[in-house]
Amino acid sequence: MKWRVTLVALSCAVSVVTGLVLGRGDLSEAKASGRKVLVGVSMDTLKEERWQSDRDFLVAKVTALGADILVQAANSDDTRQIADVQALLSNKVDVLIVVPHNGAAMAKAVDMAHEAGIPVIAYDRLITGSDPDLYISFDAVKVGAEQGRFLVGRLKPGKTMRLVRIFGAKTDNNAHLFKQGQDEVLKPYIDKGSVKVVHEDWAENWKPENAKKIVNAAITRFGREFDAVAAANDGTAGGAIQALMEEGLADKVIVTGQDAELAACQRVVRGTQAMTIYKSISGLAGRAAETAVRLAKGKPVVATQAVFNGKVRVPAILLDVVTVTKENMDATVIKEGFRRREDVYQR
Ligand code: BGC
Repeated sequence: MKWRVTLVALSCAVSVVTGLVLGRGDLSEAKASGRKVLVGVSMDTLKEERWQSDRDFLVAKVTALGADILVQAANSDDTRQIADVQALLSNKVDVLIVVPHNGAAMAKAVDMAHEAGIPVIAYDRLITGSDPDLYISFDAVKVGAEQGRFLVGRLKPGKTMRLVRIFGAKTDNNAHLFKQGQDEVLKPYIDKGSVKVVHEDWAENWKPENAKKIVNAAITRFGREFDAVAAANDGTAGGAIQALMEEGLADKVIVTGQDAELAACQRVVRGTQAMTIYKSISGLAGRAAETAVRLAKGKPVVATQAVFNGKVRVPAILLDVVTVTKENMDATVIKEGFRRREDVYQR
């Protein structure tokens, strides 16, 4: 294989951080021939607002760097995503960015790309059981921990918080990391009885309608007496809130989320969703575009962290996240230009 990962440093004062340099053993075809770099992107889906933003930012950033880009979306279908990767490789992309629908199933895509001498960046979601060259994402455990911290911050003295938990798609490594972060914060409170989980389930394919079914099931089986829904993202929060609205509970139950989707920001300022988490998509897409083009040109890329994916420690760049509530909406997503004030407040 043409690719190598060199470990250049192994220490950090606060936590263990690895300095990894990714580089290509020889010059890429694009660099050697002087033609434009072609970046291939294989996405799980474009059916959620979040991924449309990722696509738009990736196209804008890659183009601004003077490279070309091809994007495919697999509509949550693993067979189709493998076919998409095959098509991108046949189109002679110089580097591949993959948002896996199923982190384990896309190990095959990494192998296919490597056989063709093409580096792979796992974007936002880790690809497990393989050796992607780089993982660029947010701190997903922190996302879950922030959701958990928000919930315990709303505990009332002497009162048990009855909680429904909606996890994401089991096939998405991130969903497990969000849960892990929530667990770390919630466990002591569950152990001492100040939080009681009345119902929990995974929302297949992250679909809002599956989240709605989970809340409906909670109400049917355990009644309307619960205080909060830990929804893993804004899409599932939307489904949960729909179910709550039908029961007249929408502003009585605390609902979490993440992504700062426009509909979620609107719900936050209206009061039906208590919080969301802002993850800078332009920041993520920007880093991915830069590193993709550098890898394609055979230039080194430095990663400051590494994440074990069941097979190797994948060099990783993990960006920070920000909790958003009604109180700091203006100072966060609106100030950053991620959402327009008139869209959020609808006036
Ligand atoms: C992403 C979230 C997103 C979810 C559903 C996760 O992997 O990190 O931002 O809401 O997938 O698409």
